[in-house]
Amino acid sequence: MNKIILTGDRPTGKLHIGHYVGSLRERVRLQNSGLYDKIFVFLADAQALTDNFDNPDKIRASIGEVALDYLAVGLDPGKSTIFIQSQISELTELAFYYMNLVTVARVQRNPTVKAEIQMRNFEANIPVGFFTYPISQAADITAFKATTVPAGEDQKPMIEQTREIVRKFNEIYAPVLVEPDILLPSQSACLRLPGTDGKAKMSKSLGNCIYLADEADDIKQKVMSMYTDPLHLKVSDPGHLEGNTCFIYLDAFCKPEHFERYLPEYPNLDELKSHYTRGGLGDMKVKRFLNEILNEELTPIRERRKEFAKDMGEIYTMLKKGSDKARETASETLSDVKRAMKIDYFGENTLC
Ligand code: TRP
Repeated sequence: MNKIILTGDRPTGKLHIGHYVGSLRERVRLQNSGLYDKIFVFLADAQALTDNFDNPDKIRASIGEVALDYLAVGLDPGKSTIFIQSQISELTELAFYYMNLVTVARVQRNPTVKAEIQMRNFEANIPVGFFTYPISQAADITAFKATTVPAGEDQKPMIEQTREIVRKFNEIYAPVLVEPDILLPSQSACLRLPGTDGKAKMSKSLGNCIYLADEADDIKQKVMSMYTDPLHLKVSDPGHLEGNTCFIYLDAFCKPEHFERYLPEYPNLDELKSHYTRGGLGDMKVKRFLNEILNEELTPIRERRKEFAKDMGEIYTMLKKGSDKARETASETLSDVKRAMKIDYFGENTLC
């Protein structure tokens, strides 16, 4: 069986380093591994509209930004088909048929939907479109017969729901859909990067993100004012690692060679951590080290992003080509689905 990757992001703003360690970095690695037959990466604008329907300008403006972030980190349109969800109407059609296979109670039990409903204070006023987005997500995944969905831990319930839809469809109609597996980021520190203020999640509205497009000066300023350990007041005080944003970022970004380059007095991260917990290591030193590392990783990304941004026309052409290519695959799956559901009236099995 072909190994096919599908993954995507809601275009609701520029991407930040949480996206980078949580999925983008891994995606590029998978893209370049040569292990996959096809790779689809998409901008989930229709999904973004399920809770931003009253702010279409935001979604529209984010399309170019996210596409730039993709190319800047190394996604290559020659290897990965990059497309826009709303341009593939087959996905909406698939979602409509899958809705028959899911109960309201089942969506209500989906932990991600539950958490998001709470976060958005929808209470009794949940838009139906938002409520059904897990079903639309199942359409995104199955339209491309994806075997592998690289995503963060928060997407686990979505993949589980997709698998249930696939099993039910294949059982009732015909075995045309493929059950996908989630592929979580390999480093545990990367499952979710906290905000620079120590809050659980990076979010634009909290102003606690480091963006891939950020200039070096902004990054430095954000790192220097980062949340660490509130009990670590004097350098000599013993420090705590748990919930310490600086060390969580180091876990996500630090490689052994960084010590030789920027902090040769320590052999590795374990030694740095143990000095911190013993006491005698100041936050500033750790922050300066982290800043060097972030700079090393993010400078080439920022530079590439600027290069690509010089010709947005070319970016949009790339997205259009990707969408045209993606539509071909989605349209084949939709035909299979309609045949299996016996609603292919005017094809090979005509009504008469
Ligand atoms: N729900 C994902 C997010 O919030 C975006 C997404 C939509 C997605 N469809 C997908 C991710 C299909 C993986 C596969 O980021």
